[in-house]
Amino acid sequence: MSQGGLPARLAVLNAKGGTGKTTLAVQLAAGLARRGSTALGDLDPQGSATQWCRSGWLPVCGGEQAWGVRAQHVVWDCPPSVQHPAAQRALREADAVLVPVLPSPLDLWASWQLVEAIRAEQSRRPTLRAWLVVNQLEPGSALSAAMHEALREFELPALRAVVRRRAIYRTAALQGVSVYDLGSRAAAAVAEIEAVIEEMQT
Ligand SMILES: Nc1ncnc2c1ncn2[C@@H]1O[C@H](COP(=O)(O)OP(=O)(O)O)[C@@H](O)[C@H]1O
Ligand SMILES: [Mg+2]
Repeated sequence: MSQGGLPARLAVLNAKGGTGKTTLAVQLAAGLARRGSTALGDLDPQGSATQWCRSGWLPVCGGEQAWGVRAQHVVWDCPPSVQHPAAQRALREADAVLVPVLPSPLDLWASWQLVEAIRAEQSRRPTLRAWLVVNQLEPGSALSAAMHEALREFELPALRAVVRRRAIYRTAALQGVSVYDLGSRAAAAVAEIEAVIEEMQT
């Protein structure tokens, strides 16, 4: 599926580590799994998504197996480099790309090379959809004017939905579960993950 609708193959990609690729890949896969069969492709040699899902609540595959998975939705957690062959392949094969960025213009500017690579792929393959998504926004704070400006400078749209910095995401990682499994204390986190999923299909 490529025009509208939920992505069948979603790559979560950024040239940097620590922006929330694994966190968002796992949580989005958990949300997509409530809508249809979903698998997580762990393309990062660090294997943190595999570790996160070790209890088996979400099918995870790594290496070559990450590519031919039979599921309605596959989410690829990519290594933190545009040059990495797995990241390049994910970019070529995805029908949507999500780039988590921290809410600081400095971090965003570090992503320009990746944005160029995505734009180049989009010019070859116009059906490829791609967005930036702000992750780890401080609770209670709004995006700074400088960040709004920096987001506008980029040739990729930013989702209106943002993901806040919440201890519950770390709790979920520690417990090896998703925020959907953590009851009412995770309701706000679930709501923002749902908002990201809903906005991707508009
Ligand atoms: N929205 C968030 N709220 C709180 N902590 C977060 C959030 N997103 C990521 N983190 C934490 O930040 C660190 C880096 O996130 P991670 O998903 O591992 O990034 P990446 O996969 O891009 O390296 C981890 O410790 C993770 O638990
Ligand atoms: Mg990671």
